[in-house]
Amino acid sequence: MKRIALLGATGSIGRQAIEVIRARDGLQLVAASSGSTPIDGLAPLTQVGGDPSVLLERAEPDVVLNAVVGFAGLAPTMWALERGVTLALANKESLVAAGELALAARRRGGGALIPVDSEHSALFQCASVDEPESLVLTASGGPFRGRTRDELEAVTPEEALAHPTWSMGPKITVDSATLANKGLEVIEAHFLFGVPYERIEVVIHPPSIVHGLVRFRDGAAIAHLGHPDMRVPISYALTYPERAPTPVRPLDLTAQPLEFREPDTETFRMLALAREAGEKGGTYPCAYNAANEVAVEQFLDGRIGFLDIAALVEEVLGRVDGAPARDVAELEEADRRARGLVPVA
Ligand SMILES: NC(=O)c1ccc[n+]([C@@H]2O[C@H](COP(=O)([O-])OP(=O)(O)OC[C@H]3O[C@@H](n4cnc5c(N)ncnc54)[C@H](OP(=O)(O)O)[C@@H]3O)[C@@H](O)[C@H]2O)c1
Repeated sequence: MKRIALLGATGSIGRQAIEVIRARDGLQLVAASSGSTPIDGLAPLTQVGGDPSVLLERAEPDVVLNAVVGFAGLAPTMWALERGVTLALANKESLVAAGELALAARRRGGGALIPVDSEHSALFQCASVDEPESLVLTASGGPFRGRTRDELEAVTPEEALAHPTWSMGPKITVDSATLANKGLEVIEAHFLFGVPYERIEVVIHPPSIVHGLVRFRDGAAIAHLGHPDMRVPISYALTYPERAPTPVRPLDLTAQPLEFREPDTETFRMLALAREAGEKGGTYPCAYNAANEVAVEQFLDGRIGFLDIAALVEEVLGRVDGAPARDVAELEEADRRARGLVPVA
């Protein structure tokens, strides 16, 4: 029996994880948390808000599934990595922000870090074959794929929240519309697979069927295909190294063409800014993430426009020093500073 602690149990990933856990005899939900939604009775141990460390200590999980949204997911990520408890990671923001600190904790703890993000789960499975030469992340392109800057000027939160292929929480849905989500994923892939940024490619792939592709030194490439359904990567992470059945239907390869095209990074600046932040290193990725979280909140509240998100993040990245954080306290300070630099709209 695998003991699972699920952080962010009330969200999109959290709810699908509960479905996966309930459908599998070998998985047991021993602890669950949320930010503010009541979750009494969902698991033997529950917590709403606050530091999850005590909950996790008491739960003694085999796997921590971190499905919290945003930098708030840092604590469970570091808790699991430090202790060598298997971390099933949906919360990409914590790995992007903590970067080297998270990897150092993982080296000390010695546990497994299994991505839940569908693209990284795909890359994880393809990369297990041999050492990757380069990585390809696919992006649906979001609801505004193909639009010009002029056409994005007046888009509303409601339009940004209408994702064509994935059904997800509001923050990641807006991130998909700006391509910040793909930007975060480029940085996430860099830390997960140790591949330099110039060898991490992004292609727009509207049907979201190919989730990731790894190129090898002999010119071969291995891709991972499947319906866009998060229950697959969630199940893979929770049952790893086994592969369990899921209710997801088999893929019909003749159903649609598998088209790919280059992303428009002039219009969707968040992808280019993420690369720049990743390449600069230090706490630049942390600042990118922090400024984006604040800007997305302001956009969802109707206080700023869609294009202002990238403008604000670029402004913040130009004002921070990006000095590396030596510990979690310094990282939290860098996060706070970057948030404070986003003008109040
Ligand atoms: N959704 C997807 O398909 C998908 C795919 C790939 C990766 N991801 C990643 O998975 C993470 C979760 O995404 P989501 O779409 O599931 O988000 P979501 O639907 O907005 O759910 C977020 C969850 O985090 C909890 N939460 C928020 N603030 C918290 C805090 N301070 N402490 C503890 N819990 C807190 C929320 O609790 P309340 O209900 O109380 O607010 C909720 O349970 C994100 O990092 C996202 O990038 C998601």
